Amino acid sequence: MRRIVLASGKGGVGRTTLVANLGLALAKMGKVTVVVDASLTTPNLGLMFKLEKAIYTLNDVLAGEAALGDAIYDGPSGLKVIPAGPTLDQVKKALPDRLPGVLRELPVKADFLLIDAPGGLRRETVAALRCGSEVLLVANPEIAAVSNAMKTRLVSEFLGLRPIGIVLNRVQKEEFELDGKEIENMMGLPLLAEVPEDASIGKALSQGKIALDANPRSPASRAIGELAKKIAKMRVKP
Ligand SMILES: Nc1ncnc2c1ncn2[C@@H]1O[C@H](COP(=O)(O)OP(=O)(O)O)[C@@H](O)[C@H]1O
Ligand SMILES: [Mg+2]
Repeated sequence: MRRIVLASGKGGVGRTTLVANLGLALAKMGKVTVVVDASLTTPNLGLMFKLEKAIYTLNDVLAGEAALGDAIYDGPSGLKVIPAGPTLDQVKKALPDRLPGVLRELPVKADFLLIDAPGGLRRETVAALRCGSEVLLVANPEIAAVSNAMKTRLVSEFLGLRPIGIVLNRVQKEEFELDGKEIENMMGLPLLAEVPEDASIGKALSQGKIALDANPRSPASRAIGELAKKIAKMRVKP
């Protein structure tokens, strides 16, 4: 199983959106895929799959009050979703340091585990990174997002993860934006996708759907579909 953390350092760049859509794209390709919300204090992934009323969440598992299997839910196209609990009480009881241990024994034989890391580079982020063996860096084409992604990359490598590439999200190809090639050179990592700014993302969200399902031909869905193919094709050393 490949364990890929989607991390950025900067918040709001589109990690959760990408985890949900990329997970769905991989599932549609027939890959057994699990997505997990490791953004424990500000979880959003469950909302994307309408799991806000889930009985058991990752928080219960981290508190030792449920088994991991109890917190795995069926999403669209066979995708498996592990949501985190949205309430403050649930946040309080979840110990982030237990996360890598809890996710080590996944009771599903999966091809991919996609981990939605929180922003920043604090304890909770490090716990999320320690759940993965590969990191996919997510940024917007602007200097703040790219510099935070660079820092995240360094921390990831220090923790032993392999950076597989960068995804630029919300790309508008405006002249004030940083250029994809420039970012690729700056980071010395392959630019795996440029996902355009696309209203279909927000529109699907407002309908309680994932863009890749609601509008598979939208520019963002297509870019994420291509990204999924690239990731699935990668040769990974054991
Ligand atoms: N490619 C895109 N085009 C338009 N809106 C997007 C795109 N990607 C993400 N968004 C929107 O940007 C906001 C932040 O995305 P989110 O995935 O929550 O970021 P993060 O998890 O990094 O904080 C959300 O409102 C989301 O719908
Ligand atoms: Mg998020």
